Order: sequence, then structure tokens, then C-alpha cells
Amino acid sequence: DTDETLVSRPPVVTIMGHVDHGKTSLLDAIRKTHVVSGEAGGITQHIGAYQVTTPAGAKVTFIDTPGHAAFTAMRARGAKVTDIVVLVVAADDGVMPQTVEAINHAKAAKVPLIVAINKIDKSDANPDRVRSELLQYEIQVESLGGETLEIEVSAKTGQGLDTLLDAIALQAEVLDLKANPDRVAEGTVIEAKLDRGRGPVATVLVQRGTLRTGDIIVAGAEWGRVRALISDTGAQIKEAAPSLPVEVLGFNGTPEAGDRVAVVESEARAREITDYRERQ
Ligand code: GTP
Ligand code: NA
Ligand code: MG
Repeated sequence: DTDETLVSRPPVVTIMGHVDHGKTSLLDAIRKTHVVSGEAGGITQHIGAYQVTTPAGAKVTFIDTPGHAAFTAMRARGAKVTDIVVLVVAADDGVMPQTVEAINHAKAAKVPLIVAINKIDKSDANPDRVRSELLQYEIQVESLGGETLEIEVSAKTGQGLDTLLDAIALQAEVLDLKANPDRVAEGTVIEAKLDRGRGPVATVLVQRGTLRTGDIIVAGAEWGRVRALISDTGAQIKEAAPSLPVEVLGFNGTPEAGDRVAVVESEARAREITDYRERQ
């Protein structure tokens, strides 16, 4: 794509951290306070990824699903879906083995990291200990003179959530993320399952172009014609732009997390590609 066809796109953020440090709670709290109420489906999370609008008006996509194993598997398959990692560290527990794992994943993937020091509401919270522990892993936070943004948050009280979103938006500005929405769509399967009533259902993160109902798509060894696109709030939508996670109905088989998604020009072409892949 040439420069003039590229337009800004929202950052795609993955939340990582040690078990029980509050990743899911944080995502739930952000979603509850920042998803427009009254949308179809309300705040009930429909798929494992969603987009919010920050108080300053910037959009941010959060991916809920990739645990460390999924993140590693996707990276091993060359799928780069994450622009920013938010590292959640519980202020009462400090840096733990999976915190270190997450740091190493982010470094290996060359993805910038923002530290969310969570559970700041607890009486035994010790955020300064977290800051100094992170130094051992070459993460120097801003308040210690480094460049890594760190925000004290509480998923329980909501403290710091707006500041966290602002920090994400700031980091995204630095990254200057762009994509061309006016081309055939490409993306990555975040998760997929076989639904008894709806058939194969894939959550796809659109990364370039715009995905539309009626498009013929290929993902791994599977293909299909997009029968419906369903947003993170459960609403049927006609098209999905870059950085939007969307549920795709219409695959003939169930693709795998990490599969690249591409729109092709014909069913014949889709068959040709997937037949070839099946033989591999
Ligand atoms: P895994 O997905 O199992 O790794 O855990 P997680 O990181 O998603 O943590 P989760 O959101 O499940 O939270 C773990 C526990 O910590 C739950 O009991 C939460 O209620 C609690 N918790 C999460 N955030 C906060 C917080 O900010 N303050 C307090 N006091 N408790 C919190
Ligand atoms: Na948990
Ligand atoms: Mg969780």
C-alpha cells in the first residue's frame, strides 16, 4: 500500500500477567465503563475481543483471549496481532514467574509494554516494590527515570482506568499505526469454534482492508463466504475496518487460532488455495 492510502487505525492491545493479578477483572472494568450503553447486547461480552472509545475519543481494541500459550503459538506461526502489551502486576503480590514470561514475550515480539500496577486499593499494596522488581528485568518505569509508562489501577474501584486508556492512546500515537481500509481484507483468526446452531464461528481481527458480508474468505485450510459479521456487542454489522474484531459466520470448516485470513476473488480460487493447503 502506498502512503496516501494509509489511514490511522486503533491499537490492538493484549493484556498479560501472572495468574490472578486481575487481567480479566481489568478488561471487564474497562468494558463496563467505556462501552456505549444501549448498544445491542449491552455490556455482556459477546466475543473474546472488543473495542472501546477512550474519554479523549480514541479507539482501542482489547484482545481478551490470548493467554501466554496462545500468544506464543500465534507468534510461532508468524501472526502478529498485538501492537501494545499491557502488563498487569498485582501491587500486593509483585513480579511473579508469569510476569517475567510476559515481559519476555513482549520483548521477543518487539511489542511495547505498558505496566498496569493493579489492586492498588488493597491495604497491602506496594507499588514501589513492583517498580523496583521490574528493574531486574530491564523494565524501567517513568517514575524511576525510564521510558515504560506505568499506571496504578484498581479493577475493583475503577481507579486509574481512564489514565491507563490515555497511556495506551499516547503509546499508539508514538507507534503511528496505519492501515489501508480500501483494499481486500486481511486479518488473523483470534479464536474459532464449531457452534451447534451457527456452524463454524471465527473471531477475526481485521488488520488491513475492510471485511464485508458476501466476501469469499480463506483461513488456513478452510474457506467460506461471509454470511454474517457480528460485532463485540452482538450486533450484526455489514463491514469491519482495520483493528476491529468481529465474529465471522460462513466458514465451511473451523479454522484455527493464528490462521491468516484473506479475501479472495472467487470460490474457485478459495478451493484451489485450501485444497493445496490440505495436501501439505
Ligand atoms: P487468570 O485469568 O486466572 O490468570 O486471572 P486474572 O489475571 O484474569 O485475574 P482475575 O481478574 O480473575 O482476578 C483474580 C482475583 O483478583 C479475583 O478475585 C478478583 O476479584 C481480584 N481482583 C482483580 N482486580 C482487583 C483489584 O483491583 N482489587 C482487588 N481488591 N481485587 C482484585
Ligand atoms: Na483468575
Ligand atoms: Mg483471567
